[in-house]
Amino acid sequence: MNVVILAAGMGKRMQSALPKVLHPLAGKPLLRHVIDTARNLSPSKLCVIYGHGGAAVPEMVGKLAEQAGVTIDTALQQPQLGTGHAVMQAVPQLDESVPTLVLYGDVPLTTAASLGRLVEAAGTDKLAILTVEQANPFGLGRIVRENGNIVRIVEEKDASEAERAIREINSGIMCIPTAHLKRWLAALSNNNAQGEYYLTDIVAQAVADGVPVVSAQPSAEWEVAGVNSKVQLAELERRHQLNIATTLLEKGVTLMDPARIDVRGELVCGRDVVIDVGCVFEGRVELADGVTVGPHCVLVNATIGAGAQIKPFCHIEDAVVGDKSQIGPYARLRPGTELGEDVHVGNFVEIKNSQVAAHSKANHLAYVGDATVGSRVNIGAGTITCNYDGANKFRTVIEDDAFIGSDSQLVAPVTVGKGATLGAGTTLTKDAPAGKLTISRPKQLTVEGWSRPVKTKK
Ligand code: UD1
Ligand code: CA
Repeated sequence: MNVVILAAGMGKRMQSALPKVLHPLAGKPLLRHVIDTARNLSPSKLCVIYGHGGAAVPEMVGKLAEQAGVTIDTALQQPQLGTGHAVMQAVPQLDESVPTLVLYGDVPLTTAASLGRLVEAAGTDKLAILTVEQANPFGLGRIVRENGNIVRIVEEKDASEAERAIREINSGIMCIPTAHLKRWLAALSNNNAQGEYYLTDIVAQAVADGVPVVSAQPSAEWEVAGVNSKVQLAELERRHQLNIATTLLEKGVTLMDPARIDVRGELVCGRDVVIDVGCVFEGRVELADGVTVGPHCVLVNATIGAGAQIKPFCHIEDAVVGDKSQIGPYARLRPGTELGEDVHVGNFVEIKNSQVAAHSKANHLAYVGDATVGSRVNIGAGTITCNYDGANKFRTVIEDDAFIGSDSQLVAPVTVGKGATLGAGTTLTKDAPAGKLTISRPKQLTVEGWSRPVKTKK
């Protein structure tokens, strides 16, 4: 099968410099949703028709094709003279021995299952249209039937009053025998209310040529909903998020409110996972069995081990959290953080590019960057690894069972030996030996006989 995705329209109502089909839904460009769905159908040819927005659309498509190791053709439609004219741009790419499926780059949520039914209805020799009965069909092309058979499609602007009363609409998605399609496209005229080459006019040609025209229906109306404005984009985003939330609920995840979760990527959950309101998941996030995520957390490309608790307001990115660990509230785990089992990271603690082994704790106000921290280490409040000298970064090593007193600065590169203790307020510039107390603070002094100054009278 050939797939042609129409994505040349300018999307004026988006009021944006970004081409419409590159606006994200669930963190992924609209067009990317359509390409991903199309790829599920294993097309032999995939061609995207672009126009507005310069090189941005073909660049995105090129990158995607490279990542996936597939070929995706692009063809420029300039100027944009209608949907029929758009498909004409793909003609040189189309393999005549298989049907052509036409999709829209701004209709992101059509399921592969519905498209599969459409393709099946078309077989090798029929024209199949994905149609929907809509309560409010205003603005859309209407499916005109005689004795139950589709005879043509009429656009809103060209329709008679009787035709406007028809509620079965053209989604725009069609599957067409390719050799016929090429012929029909060549015969299109723009003699209509909009002066455009309508793809929909091929339907009447098919009927005239005795090619059967059939229809298939999607499972839900939103599957064929297009995005023309930010309002419609927001509506489809909510619809998509609700679909994701429903799938999670069906798999046994507890969502405190299915209307208040945003998944912009892939969220994989074990059993008995609980997610509170307002959380955002981006990229690939894995929550193992029994994980709880408190309200208003952002997790990006993260793996959270079984039984771990993520308390409210945490930001976790490119990080691994071990089983039974407790994170937050208000913790930030930055890229390269790897926490072992039962690690406690408390409020206003930032960890970056560091490994922290089992049972270690940094409970309050600390920065741990470029560090290797052993097991059962206690990092006191206000501890900072000084990992950066303004030009280069250095590592801090804290061995097992060390105790770092509050408000210490570890000036890297530096090592705290096994079981070592740093007194509070230590500025560590040389290695602290194992098992001993190291302290850099001046000795405490009390001045006898000292009294506070008093104000002198003028
Ligand atoms: C089209 C259909 C209409 C259908 C409706 C569904 C035609 C003539 N009409 O309406 O029957 O109910 O879609 O939304 O086909 N595009 C291009 N190049 C162009 C024009 C459009 O690539 O020159 C792309 C757009 O980017 C969009 C899609 O085609 O993805 C549909 O275009 P749009 O203008 O939204 O649809 P209509 O022509 O109004
Ligand atoms: Ca549209």
